[in-house]
Amino acid sequence: MNVTDHTSNKKPGADAGAAQENRSAVNPWDIEAPSPELLESPIEFLFVEHNRQRQAANILHLVADGEVNKAGVKKLIDFLETDFAVHVADEELCFFPLLLQHCPPEDNIDKLIERLADEHKKDEATVTGMTTVLNDVMAGNKLNDKAVRTVRGFAEHILQHLALENAVLLPIARARLNETALCALSDMMKERRI
Ligand SMILES: [Fe+2]
Ligand SMILES: [Fe+2]
Repeated sequence: MNVTDHTSNKKPGADAGAAQENRSAVNPWDIEAPSPELLESPIEFLFVEHNRQRQAANILHLVADGEVNKAGVKKLIDFLETDFAVHVADEELCFFPLLLQHCPPEDNIDKLIERLADEHKKDEATVTGMTTVLNDVMAGNKLNDKAVRTVRGFAEHILQHLALENAVLLPIARARLNETALCALSDMMKERRI
């Protein structure tokens, strides 16, 4: 375990997230990768990943509107198959267990985590079908009405899930996870990316 100070996670993660959002505003098809150094502040890293998911949802809406940018759609497919899946693993295998361990009963964190884990399962099931739809777009095919509804539904689901995590889960984590827990979270998230 390293001795880096991870306590910056206790501050709202507006700075890095806002900076990333501003940069992505230049190209609506981009999903910019966070700096690996941000893993030293694991809750901040999760917050920035949520911003990237918001960018992915925006791209899904562009696709549903009939717009096509092959490089952007390819980036979206790569994101859903890699970083999006890794983020879910970060939460399920590291973040949620630490919260269950450190939160007092009055936080009712178990109920919230149960709901979020359920939504992750649905996401996993949806991503495979979504990749097929996006590959169709890459091949130059026009989406039918059902596919458009599916793409929009997935985008909306991503947005409501990250909004709940940002509004409820991350503030609880900032309040409850001590330096030792943050160090452990940081180390586990780094190991997943070696
Ligand atoms: Fe999640
Ligand atoms: Fe998340």
